[in-house]
Amino acid sequence: MKSMNTANKSTRFFPSHTHHTTTFCTRSHQIAALAIVVTTFFLTRLFDQSLGTCSSSYQNTFPDVNRQYEGVVRFGDSGGWPKRGYGTQLNLKIYVYDENEIEGLKLLLYGREGKISPEACIKGQWGTQVKIHRLLLQSRFRTRKKEEADLFFVPTYVKCVRMMGGLNDKEINQTYVKVLGQMRYFRLSGGRDHIFVFPSGAGAHLFKAWATYLNRSIILTPEGDRTDKRGTSAFNTWKDVIIPGNVDDGMTANGARLVDPLPLSKRKYLANFLGRAQGKVGRLQLIELAKQFPDKLESPELKFSGPDKLGRVGYFKHLQNAKFCLAPRGESSWTLRFYESFFVECVPVILSDQVELPFQNVVDYTHVSIKWPSTQIGPELLDYLESIPDKDIEDMIAQGRKIRCLWIYAPESESCSAFTGIMWELQKKVRQFHQSTETFWLHNGSIVNRNLVEFSKWKPPMPLP
Ligand SMILES: *[C@@H]1O[C@H](CO)[C@@H](O)[C@H](O)[C@H]1NC(C)=O
Ligand SMILES: *[C@@H]1O[C@H](CO)[C@@H](O)[C@H](O)[C@H]1NC(C)=O
Ligand SMILES: *[C@@H]1O[C@H](CO)[C@@H](O)[C@H](O)[C@H]1NC(C)=O
Repeated sequence: MKSMNTANKSTRFFPSHTHHTTTFCTRSHQIAALAIVVTTFFLTRLFDQSLGTCSSSYQNTFPDVNRQYEGVVRFGDSGGWPKRGYGTQLNLKIYVYDENEIEGLKLLLYGREGKISPEACIKGQWGTQVKIHRLLLQSRFRTRKKEEADLFFVPTYVKCVRMMGGLNDKEINQTYVKVLGQMRYFRLSGGRDHIFVFPSGAGAHLFKAWATYLNRSIILTPEGDRTDKRGTSAFNTWKDVIIPGNVDDGMTANGARLVDPLPLSKRKYLANFLGRAQGKVGRLQLIELAKQFPDKLESPELKFSGPDKLGRVGYFKHLQNAKFCLAPRGESSWTLRFYESFFVECVPVILSDQVELPFQNVVDYTHVSIKWPSTQIGPELLDYLESIPDKDIEDMIAQGRKIRCLWIYAPESESCSAFTGIMWELQKKVRQFHQSTETFWLHNGSIVNRNLVEFSKWKPPMPLP
Protein backbone atom coordinates (compact mmCIF):
# COMPACT_ATOMS: atom_id res chain seq x y z
CA MET A 1 0.00 0.00 0.00
CA LYS A 2 1.79 2.99 -1.28
CA SER A 3 -0.19 5.59 0.60
CA MET A 4 0.73 4.06 3.96
CA ASN A 5 4.40 4.85 3.40
CA THR A 6 3.66 8.52 3.13
CA ALA A 7 1.65 8.53 6.36
CA ASN A 8 4.28 10.31 8.44
CA LYS A 9 4.72 12.96 5.84
CA SER A 10 1.03 13.76 5.55
CA THR A 11 0.50 14.35 9.26
CA ARG A 12 2.63 17.46 8.91
CA PHE A 13 -0.01 19.12 6.80
CA PHE A 14 -2.53 19.12 9.60
CA PRO A 15 -2.67 21.18 12.76
CA SER A 16 -2.57 18.03 14.77
CA HIS A 17 -2.64 18.01 18.57
CA THR A 18 -1.36 14.50 18.56
CA HIS A 19 2.01 13.09 17.83
CA HIS A 20 2.24 10.87 14.82
CA THR A 21 3.51 7.94 16.82
CA THR A 22 0.12 7.57 18.47
CA THR A 23 -2.39 5.17 17.03
CA PHE A 24 -4.67 7.86 15.64
CA CYS A 25 -5.52 7.87 11.98
CA THR A 26 -3.57 9.99 9.58
CA ARG A 27 -5.24 11.30 6.48
CA SER A 28 -3.47 8.69 4.41
CA HIS A 29 -4.90 5.95 6.60
CA GLN A 30 -8.32 7.40 6.14
CA ILE A 31 -7.99 7.73 2.42
CA ALA A 32 -6.64 4.22 2.17
CA ALA A 33 -9.51 3.01 4.33
CA LEU A 34 -11.94 4.97 2.23
CA ALA A 35 -10.55 3.48 -0.95
CA ILE A 36 -11.01 0.03 0.54
CA VAL A 37 -14.53 0.83 1.61
CA VAL A 38 -15.54 2.18 -1.76
CA THR A 39 -13.95 -0.65 -3.69
CA THR A 40 -15.44 -3.24 -1.42
CA PHE A 41 -18.77 -1.53 -1.59
CA PHE A 42 -18.89 -1.69 -5.34
CA LEU A 43 -17.30 -5.02 -5.96
CA THR A 44 -19.03 -7.10 -3.35
CA ARG A 45 -21.91 -4.83 -2.38
CA LEU A 46 -21.00 -5.58 1.22
CA PHE A 47 -19.23 -3.55 3.78
CA ASP A 48 -16.15 -5.35 4.92
CA GLN A 49 -16.12 -5.78 8.67
CA SER A 50 -12.38 -6.12 8.78
CA LEU A 51 -11.55 -2.47 8.17
CA GLY A 52 -10.23 -2.23 11.67
CA THR A 53 -10.33 0.48 14.26
CA CYS A 54 -8.83 3.12 12.03
CA SER A 55 -11.83 3.68 9.83
CA SER A 56 -14.35 3.32 12.62
CA SER A 57 -12.69 5.91 14.83
CA TYR A 58 -12.59 8.15 11.79
CA GLN A 59 -16.32 7.80 11.44
CA ASN A 60 -17.12 8.36 15.08
CA THR A 61 -14.81 11.09 16.25
CA PHE A 62 -15.29 13.63 13.51
CA PRO A 63 -17.46 16.56 14.45
CA ASP A 64 -20.13 17.46 11.93
CA VAL A 65 -18.94 20.64 10.37
CA ASN A 66 -21.53 23.33 10.52
CA ARG A 67 -23.50 23.42 7.30
CA GLN A 68 -24.09 27.16 7.40
CA TYR A 69 -21.81 29.68 5.83
CA GLU A 70 -20.39 30.78 9.16
CA GLY A 71 -19.07 27.27 9.76
CA VAL A 72 -15.31 26.93 9.79
CA VAL A 73 -13.40 23.73 9.34
CA ARG A 74 -12.46 22.13 12.63
CA PHE A 75 -9.95 19.40 12.25
CA GLY A 76 -10.70 16.29 14.23
CA ASP A 77 -8.88 15.67 17.53
CA SER A 78 -6.78 13.20 15.66
CA GLY A 79 -5.74 15.88 13.22
CA GLY A 80 -7.90 14.42 10.47
CA TRP A 81 -9.96 15.70 7.64
CA PRO A 82 -13.62 16.51 8.19
CA LYS A 83 -16.25 13.99 7.22
CA ARG A 84 -17.91 16.41 4.86
CA GLY A 85 -17.08 15.68 1.26
CA TYR A 86 -14.84 12.72 2.03
CA GLY A 87 -16.97 10.56 4.29
CA THR A 88 -17.19 6.80 4.36
CA GLN A 89 -20.87 7.06 3.63
CA LEU A 90 -22.89 9.14 1.27
CA ASN A 91 -24.02 12.31 2.92
CA LEU A 92 -25.15 14.79 0.31
CA LYS A 93 -27.82 17.40 -0.14
CA ILE A 94 -28.69 18.26 -3.72
CA TYR A 95 -31.23 20.86 -4.73
CA VAL A 96 -33.02 20.13 -8.01
CA TYR A 97 -34.34 23.23 -9.77
CA ASP A 98 -38.03 23.06 -10.53
CA GLU A 99 -39.09 23.62 -14.12
CA ASN A 100 -41.59 26.29 -13.02
CA GLU A 101 -39.24 28.18 -10.79
CA ILE A 102 -36.91 29.51 -13.49
CA GLU A 103 -38.24 31.12 -16.62
CA GLY A 104 -36.95 29.36 -19.69
CA LEU A 105 -36.06 26.09 -18.01
CA LYS A 106 -39.10 24.41 -19.57
CA LEU A 107 -37.81 25.33 -23.02
CA LEU A 108 -34.59 23.46 -22.29
CA LEU A 109 -36.66 20.47 -21.16
CA TYR A 110 -39.48 20.33 -23.72
CA GLY A 111 -38.59 22.72 -26.58
CA ARG A 112 -40.19 25.96 -27.71
CA GLU A 113 -43.64 24.42 -28.21
CA GLY A 114 -43.35 22.28 -25.13
CA LYS A 115 -43.96 19.18 -27.21
CA ILE A 116 -40.76 17.18 -26.85
CA SER A 117 -41.64 14.14 -24.81
CA PRO A 118 -39.40 13.02 -21.95
CA GLU A 119 -40.57 9.48 -22.66
CA ALA A 120 -38.85 9.74 -26.04
CA CYS A 121 -35.81 11.48 -24.54
CA ILE A 122 -35.24 8.76 -21.93
CA LYS A 123 -34.54 6.17 -24.64
CA GLY A 124 -31.31 5.62 -26.50
CA GLN A 125 -27.69 6.31 -25.65
CA TRP A 126 -28.44 9.85 -24.43
CA GLY A 127 -31.22 8.81 -22.03
CA THR A 128 -29.00 9.76 -19.10
CA GLN A 129 -30.17 13.37 -19.32
CA VAL A 130 -33.66 12.25 -18.24
CA LYS A 131 -32.69 9.30 -16.05
CA ILE A 132 -30.34 11.22 -13.76
CA HIS A 133 -32.94 13.97 -13.30
CA ARG A 134 -35.67 11.46 -12.41
CA LEU A 135 -33.43 9.53 -10.04
CA LEU A 136 -32.50 12.74 -8.25
CA LEU A 137 -36.15 13.75 -7.86
CA GLN A 138 -36.74 10.46 -6.02
CA SER A 139 -33.46 10.52 -4.17
CA ARG A 140 -32.86 10.61 -0.44
CA PHE A 141 -30.09 13.09 -1.25
CA ARG A 142 -32.55 15.61 -2.59
CA THR A 143 -33.22 18.69 -0.50
CA ARG A 144 -35.92 21.26 -1.10
CA LYS A 145 -34.04 23.95 0.77
CA LYS A 146 -31.48 25.88 -1.21
CA GLU A 147 -29.88 27.23 1.97
CA GLU A 148 -28.76 23.77 3.02
CA ALA A 149 -27.85 22.38 -0.41
CA ASP A 150 -24.31 21.19 -1.07
CA LEU A 151 -24.97 21.07 -4.79
CA PHE A 152 -27.58 22.27 -7.27
CA PHE A 153 -28.86 20.25 -10.22
CA VAL A 154 -30.04 22.12 -13.33
CA PRO A 155 -32.25 19.75 -15.34
CA THR A 156 -32.23 20.15 -19.12
CA TYR A 157 -32.81 17.67 -21.95
CA VAL A 158 -31.17 19.81 -24.61
CA LYS A 159 -29.51 17.01 -26.56
CA CYS A 160 -32.89 15.46 -27.17
CA VAL A 161 -34.68 18.79 -27.64
CA ARG A 162 -32.17 19.81 -30.29
CA MET A 163 -32.30 16.43 -32.08
CA MET A 164 -36.08 16.65 -32.29
CA GLY A 165 -36.05 20.21 -33.56
CA GLY A 166 -37.42 21.67 -30.33
CA LEU A 167 -34.75 24.39 -30.20
CA ASN A 168 -31.90 25.45 -32.47
CA ASP A 169 -28.36 26.21 -31.33
CA LYS A 170 -28.99 29.91 -31.04
CA GLU A 171 -32.11 29.42 -28.94
CA ILE A 172 -30.34 26.90 -26.73
CA ASN A 173 -27.52 29.35 -26.09
CA GLN A 174 -29.78 32.28 -25.33
CA THR A 175 -32.10 30.27 -23.14
CA TYR A 176 -29.25 28.92 -21.04
CA VAL A 177 -27.93 32.41 -20.45
CA LYS A 178 -31.39 33.62 -19.48
CA VAL A 179 -31.90 30.68 -17.12
CA LEU A 180 -28.54 31.11 -15.38
CA GLY A 181 -29.16 34.82 -14.89
CA GLN A 182 -32.11 34.00 -12.66
CA MET A 183 -30.20 31.77 -10.30
CA ARG A 184 -28.89 33.59 -7.23
CA TYR A 185 -26.93 30.61 -6.05
CA PHE A 186 -25.28 30.20 -9.42
CA ARG A 187 -24.05 33.78 -9.08
CA LEU A 188 -22.91 33.16 -5.52
CA SER A 189 -20.53 30.38 -6.48
CA GLY A 190 -19.82 31.40 -10.05
CA GLY A 191 -21.51 28.08 -10.91
CA ARG A 192 -19.02 25.93 -8.97
CA ASP A 193 -21.68 23.97 -7.11
CA HIS A 194 -24.08 23.63 -10.03
CA ILE A 195 -24.42 20.35 -11.93
CA PHE A 196 -25.32 19.94 -15.62
CA VAL A 197 -25.75 16.78 -17.68
CA PHE A 198 -24.49 16.78 -21.26
CA PRO A 199 -25.14 13.23 -22.44
CA SER A 200 -23.52 13.15 -25.87
CA GLY A 201 -20.13 13.39 -27.55
CA ALA A 202 -20.57 17.13 -27.97
CA GLY A 203 -20.45 17.46 -24.19
CA ALA A 204 -21.05 20.99 -22.94
CA HIS A 205 -20.51 22.34 -26.48
CA LEU A 206 -24.26 21.88 -26.92
CA PHE A 207 -24.42 25.23 -25.15
CA LYS A 208 -22.33 27.38 -27.47
CA ALA A 209 -21.19 29.83 -24.84
CA TRP A 210 -20.43 27.14 -22.23
CA ALA A 211 -16.83 28.28 -21.88
CA THR A 212 -17.95 31.64 -20.56
CA TYR A 213 -20.75 30.49 -18.29
CA LEU A 214 -20.17 26.86 -17.30
CA ASN A 215 -16.44 26.57 -17.17
CA ARG A 216 -16.47 26.25 -13.40
CA SER A 217 -19.55 24.07 -13.09
CA ILE A 218 -19.69 20.32 -12.59
CA ILE A 219 -20.48 18.64 -15.88
CA LEU A 220 -21.72 15.06 -16.05
CA THR A 221 -20.89 13.61 -19.45
CA PRO A 222 -19.79 10.34 -21.02
CA GLU A 223 -17.32 12.31 -23.13
CA GLY A 224 -13.87 13.03 -21.78
CA ASP A 225 -12.62 14.51 -25.01
CA ARG A 226 -13.84 16.59 -27.87
CA THR A 227 -10.88 17.43 -29.98
CA ASP A 228 -11.82 16.39 -33.47
CA LYS A 229 -14.00 19.35 -34.30
CA ARG A 230 -13.21 22.04 -31.78
CA GLY A 231 -10.18 23.64 -30.37
CA THR A 232 -10.96 23.06 -26.72
CA SER A 233 -12.23 20.08 -24.81
CA ALA A 234 -15.26 20.82 -22.67
CA PHE A 235 -14.16 18.19 -20.17
CA ASN A 236 -11.97 18.94 -17.18
CA THR A 237 -10.65 15.96 -15.25
CA TRP A 238 -10.68 17.71 -11.89
CA LYS A 239 -14.17 19.12 -11.79
CA ASP A 240 -16.25 17.07 -14.21
CA VAL A 241 -17.57 13.54 -13.87
CA ILE A 242 -17.57 10.87 -16.57
CA ILE A 243 -20.85 8.97 -16.59
CA PRO A 244 -21.69 5.70 -18.34
CA GLY A 245 -23.80 5.90 -21.49
CA ASN A 246 -27.37 4.68 -21.36
CA VAL A 247 -27.54 1.00 -22.29
CA ASP A 248 -30.91 -0.28 -23.54
CA ASP A 249 -33.18 -1.17 -20.61
CA GLY A 250 -33.92 -4.46 -22.37
CA MET A 251 -30.32 -5.54 -21.75
CA THR A 252 -29.83 -4.25 -18.22
CA ALA A 253 -33.08 -5.62 -16.75
CA ASN A 254 -32.76 -8.05 -13.87
CA GLY A 255 -35.13 -10.59 -15.37
CA ALA A 256 -35.46 -11.64 -18.99
CA ARG A 257 -33.07 -9.84 -21.32
CA LEU A 258 -33.49 -9.11 -25.01
CA VAL A 259 -30.57 -11.43 -25.67
CA ASP A 260 -28.69 -13.83 -23.38
CA PRO A 261 -24.92 -14.27 -23.65
CA LEU A 262 -23.64 -17.22 -25.67
CA PRO A 263 -21.02 -19.64 -24.35
CA LEU A 264 -17.59 -18.76 -25.78
CA SER A 265 -17.46 -22.00 -27.79
CA LYS A 266 -20.68 -21.08 -29.59
CA ARG A 267 -19.46 -17.71 -30.82
CA LYS A 268 -18.81 -17.56 -34.51
CA TYR A 269 -16.26 -14.76 -34.62
CA LEU A 270 -13.09 -13.76 -32.87
CA ALA A 271 -14.11 -10.10 -32.93
CA ASN A 272 -16.74 -7.79 -34.31
CA PHE A 273 -17.27 -4.17 -35.11
CA LEU A 274 -20.85 -2.97 -35.28
CA GLY A 275 -21.39 0.52 -36.48
CA ARG A 276 -21.18 2.91 -39.37
CA ALA A 277 -17.91 4.10 -40.82
CA GLN A 278 -18.82 7.78 -40.40
CA GLY A 279 -15.75 8.52 -42.51
CA LYS A 280 -13.50 7.85 -39.50
CA VAL A 281 -10.08 6.38 -40.20
CA GLY A 282 -10.18 3.70 -37.51
CA ARG A 283 -13.61 2.52 -38.54
CA LEU A 284 -12.72 2.40 -42.21
CA GLN A 285 -9.64 0.35 -41.34
CA LEU A 286 -11.80 -2.10 -39.40
CA ILE A 287 -14.24 -2.48 -42.27
CA GLU A 288 -11.28 -3.16 -44.60
CA LEU A 289 -9.86 -5.66 -42.12
CA ALA A 290 -13.21 -7.46 -41.95
CA LYS A 291 -13.15 -7.85 -45.74
CA GLN A 292 -9.66 -9.36 -45.52
CA PHE A 293 -10.47 -11.70 -42.62
CA PRO A 294 -14.20 -12.35 -42.86
CA ASP A 295 -14.01 -15.49 -40.71
CA LYS A 296 -12.41 -13.69 -37.80
CA LEU A 297 -13.82 -10.21 -37.82
CA GLU A 298 -17.49 -9.53 -38.41
CA SER A 299 -18.46 -6.08 -39.57
CA PRO A 300 -21.89 -6.33 -41.12
CA GLU A 301 -23.41 -3.45 -42.96
CA LEU A 302 -26.08 -2.33 -40.56
CA LYS A 303 -29.25 -0.68 -41.73
CA PHE A 304 -30.48 1.83 -39.23
CA SER A 305 -33.45 2.88 -41.35
CA GLY A 306 -35.63 1.56 -44.15
CA PRO A 307 -37.45 -1.78 -44.41
CA ASP A 308 -34.43 -3.88 -43.37
CA LYS A 309 -33.77 -1.71 -40.37
CA LEU A 310 -31.87 -3.57 -37.71
CA GLY A 311 -33.93 -3.91 -34.54
CA ARG A 312 -32.59 -3.91 -30.99
CA VAL A 313 -32.63 -7.70 -30.77
CA GLY A 314 -30.88 -8.07 -34.11
CA TYR A 315 -28.20 -5.64 -33.04
CA PHE A 316 -27.44 -7.44 -29.79
CA LYS A 317 -27.52 -10.84 -31.57
CA HIS A 318 -24.67 -9.63 -33.76
CA LEU A 319 -22.81 -8.12 -30.83
CA GLN A 320 -22.93 -11.31 -28.76
CA ASN A 321 -21.49 -13.51 -31.50
CA ALA A 322 -17.80 -12.68 -30.93
CA LYS A 323 -15.33 -13.01 -28.07
CA PHE A 324 -14.14 -9.45 -28.45
CA CYS A 325 -16.22 -6.38 -29.27
CA LEU A 326 -14.18 -3.65 -30.90
CA ALA A 327 -15.06 -0.14 -29.79
CA PRO A 328 -13.38 2.41 -32.08
CA ARG A 329 -13.94 6.13 -31.72
CA GLY A 330 -16.70 7.62 -33.84
CA GLU A 331 -17.75 11.24 -33.94
CA SER A 332 -16.14 11.46 -30.53
CA SER A 333 -14.15 9.34 -28.11
CA TRP A 334 -16.78 7.59 -26.07
CA THR A 335 -18.80 4.77 -27.49
CA LEU A 336 -21.87 3.08 -26.14
CA ARG A 337 -20.59 -0.23 -27.46
CA PHE A 338 -18.04 -0.31 -24.66
CA TYR A 339 -20.84 -0.41 -22.06
CA GLU A 340 -23.06 -2.73 -24.12
CA SER A 341 -20.25 -5.29 -24.35
CA PHE A 342 -20.62 -6.05 -20.66
CA PHE A 343 -24.23 -7.16 -21.14
CA VAL A 344 -23.63 -9.53 -24.08
CA GLU A 345 -20.41 -10.57 -22.33
CA CYS A 346 -17.79 -9.95 -24.98
CA VAL A 347 -14.50 -8.35 -23.94
CA PRO A 348 -14.48 -4.72 -25.07
CA VAL A 349 -11.42 -3.64 -27.03
CA ILE A 350 -11.13 0.14 -26.93
CA LEU A 351 -9.64 1.67 -30.07
CA SER A 352 -10.09 5.26 -29.01
CA ASP A 353 -6.93 6.77 -27.61
CA GLN A 354 -8.49 9.77 -25.87
CA VAL A 355 -11.23 7.85 -24.11
CA GLU A 356 -12.00 8.60 -20.45
CA LEU A 357 -13.83 5.96 -18.46
CA PRO A 358 -16.14 6.41 -15.48
CA PHE A 359 -15.38 5.66 -11.82
CA GLN A 360 -11.63 5.25 -12.27
CA ASN A 361 -11.27 5.56 -8.50
CA VAL A 362 -12.85 2.13 -8.06
CA VAL A 363 -12.59 0.26 -11.35
CA ASP A 364 -9.32 -1.11 -12.69
CA TYR A 365 -10.13 -1.36 -16.37
CA THR A 366 -7.18 -3.64 -17.14
CA HIS A 367 -9.18 -6.48 -15.57
CA VAL A 368 -12.24 -6.10 -17.73
CA SER A 369 -11.19 -4.63 -21.06
CA ILE A 370 -8.36 -4.07 -23.52
CA LYS A 371 -7.21 -0.74 -24.90
CA TRP A 372 -5.24 -1.04 -28.12
CA PRO A 373 -3.52 1.83 -29.97
CA SER A 374 -5.73 3.15 -32.75
CA THR A 375 -2.55 3.52 -34.82
CA GLN A 376 -2.14 -0.30 -34.84
CA ILE A 377 -5.40 -1.39 -36.41
CA GLY A 378 -4.48 -4.20 -38.78
CA PRO A 379 -3.79 -7.96 -38.90
CA GLU A 380 -1.55 -7.55 -35.82
CA LEU A 381 -4.62 -6.71 -33.75
CA LEU A 382 -6.38 -9.90 -34.82
CA ASP A 383 -3.20 -11.96 -34.23
CA TYR A 384 -2.96 -10.55 -30.75
CA LEU A 385 -6.60 -11.21 -29.90
CA GLU A 386 -6.29 -14.74 -31.28
CA SER A 387 -3.32 -15.42 -28.99
CA ILE A 388 -5.37 -14.80 -25.84
CA PRO A 389 -6.39 -18.13 -24.24
CA ASP A 390 -10.11 -18.69 -23.68
CA LYS A 391 -9.47 -19.05 -19.97
CA ASP A 392 -8.20 -15.47 -19.80
CA ILE A 393 -11.18 -14.29 -21.78
CA GLU A 394 -13.52 -16.09 -19.39
CA ASP A 395 -11.75 -14.43 -16.46
CA MET A 396 -12.18 -10.97 -17.91
CA ILE A 397 -15.81 -11.62 -18.65
CA ALA A 398 -16.36 -12.86 -15.11
CA GLN A 399 -14.80 -9.70 -13.67
CA GLY A 400 -16.88 -7.58 -16.01
CA ARG A 401 -20.02 -9.30 -14.78
CA LYS A 402 -19.22 -8.08 -11.28
CA ILE A 403 -18.84 -4.42 -12.14
CA ARG A 404 -21.43 -3.93 -14.87
CA CYS A 405 -24.00 -2.91 -12.25
CA LEU A 406 -22.11 0.40 -12.35
CA TRP A 407 -23.43 1.02 -15.87
CA ILE A 408 -27.08 0.61 -14.93
CA TYR A 409 -29.20 3.63 -14.03
CA ALA A 410 -31.10 1.60 -11.48
CA PRO A 411 -33.19 3.01 -8.61
CA GLU A 412 -31.34 4.20 -5.55
CA SER A 413 -32.39 1.10 -3.61
CA GLU A 414 -29.77 -0.84 -5.60
CA SER A 415 -26.48 -0.55 -3.74
CA CYS A 416 -24.45 -0.73 -6.95
CA SER A 417 -25.60 1.41 -9.84
CA ALA A 418 -24.47 4.21 -12.10
CA PHE A 419 -26.44 6.60 -9.90
CA THR A 420 -24.67 5.51 -6.70
CA GLY A 421 -21.33 5.82 -8.46
CA ILE A 422 -22.20 9.34 -9.56
CA MET A 423 -23.26 10.28 -6.02
CA TRP A 424 -19.87 9.15 -4.70
CA GLU A 425 -18.14 11.24 -7.33
CA LEU A 426 -20.29 14.25 -6.51
CA GLN A 427 -19.62 13.88 -2.81
CA LYS A 428 -15.96 14.57 -3.53
CA LYS A 429 -16.93 17.86 -5.15
CA VAL A 430 -18.73 19.24 -2.10
CA ARG A 431 -17.26 22.47 -0.76
CA GLN A 432 -17.87 24.12 2.56
CA PHE A 433 -17.42 27.52 1.04
CA HIS A 434 -18.42 29.06 -2.25
CA GLN A 435 -17.15 32.16 -3.89
CA SER A 436 -16.74 33.82 -7.25
CA THR A 437 -15.15 36.97 -8.58
CA GLU A 438 -18.45 38.69 -7.86
CA THR A 439 -18.83 37.43 -4.31
CA PHE A 440 -17.50 39.34 -1.29
CA TRP A 441 -17.81 38.84 2.44
CA LEU A 442 -17.66 41.03 5.51
CA HIS A 443 -16.36 40.69 9.06
CA ASN A 444 -19.69 39.31 10.28
CA GLY A 445 -20.04 36.65 7.59
CA SER A 446 -22.45 38.61 5.42
CA ILE A 447 -22.05 37.72 1.75
CA VAL A 448 -22.45 40.72 -0.50
CA ASN A 449 -22.07 41.60 -4.15
CA ARG A 450 -19.94 44.31 -5.70
CA ASN A 451 -22.52 46.92 -4.70
CA LEU A 452 -22.46 45.63 -1.12
CA VAL A 453 -25.99 44.26 -1.44
CA GLU A 454 -26.52 41.31 0.89
CA PHE A 455 -26.96 37.89 -0.72
CA SER A 456 -30.56 37.52 0.47
CA LYS A 457 -31.46 40.70 -1.40
CA TRP A 458 -29.89 39.79 -4.73
CA LYS A 459 -32.56 40.11 -7.41
CA PRO A 460 -32.70 38.45 -10.83
CA PRO A 461 -31.61 38.89 -13.47
CA MET A 462 -28.16 38.54 -11.96
CA PRO A 463 -25.31 39.86 -14.10
CA LEU A 464 -23.24 36.99 -15.52
CA PRO A 465 -19.74 37.02 -16.99
C1 LIG B 1 -24.98 33.21 -26.40
O1 LIG B 1 -25.96 34.06 -25.85
C2 LIG B 1 -25.44 35.21 -25.21
C3 LIG B 1 -26.60 35.95 -24.56
O2 LIG B 1 -27.65 36.15 -25.42
C4 LIG B 1 -24.69 36.08 -26.22
O3 LIG B 1 -24.15 37.18 -25.58
C5 LIG B 1 -23.60 35.24 -26.84
O4 LIG B 1 -22.95 35.99 -27.86
C6 LIG B 1 -24.14 33.95 -27.43
N1 LIG B 1 -23.02 33.13 -27.84
C7 LIG B 1 -23.00 32.41 -28.93
C8 LIG B 1 -21.77 31.65 -29.24
O5 LIG B 1 -23.98 32.34 -29.67
C1 LIG C 1 -13.89 30.76 -17.90
O1 LIG C 1 -14.70 31.90 -18.14
C2 LIG C 1 -14.12 33.11 -17.75
C3 LIG C 1 -15.14 34.19 -17.92
O2 LIG C 1 -15.58 34.27 -19.24
C4 LIG C 1 -12.87 33.35 -18.57
O3 LIG C 1 -12.26 34.54 -18.16
C5 LIG C 1 -11.91 32.18 -18.38
O4 LIG C 1 -10.80 32.32 -19.21
C6 LIG C 1 -12.61 30.88 -18.70
N1 LIG C 1 -11.74 29.78 -18.41
C7 LIG C 1 -11.57 28.76 -19.22
C8 LIG C 1 -10.68 27.70 -18.73
O5 LIG C 1 -12.12 28.70 -20.30
C1 LIG D 1 -22.80 42.79 8.67
O1 LIG D 1 -22.21 44.05 8.58
C2 LIG D 1 -22.75 44.90 7.57
C3 LIG D 1 -21.89 46.17 7.57
O2 LIG D 1 -21.70 46.66 8.88
C4 LIG D 1 -24.21 45.16 7.86
O3 LIG D 1 -24.76 46.03 6.88
C5 LIG D 1 -24.95 43.85 7.87
O4 LIG D 1 -26.31 44.03 8.20
C6 LIG D 1 -24.31 42.89 8.86
N1 LIG D 1 -24.91 41.60 8.72
C7 LIG D 1 -25.39 40.88 9.71
C8 LIG D 1 -25.95 39.52 9.40
O5 LIG D 1 -25.38 41.30 10.87
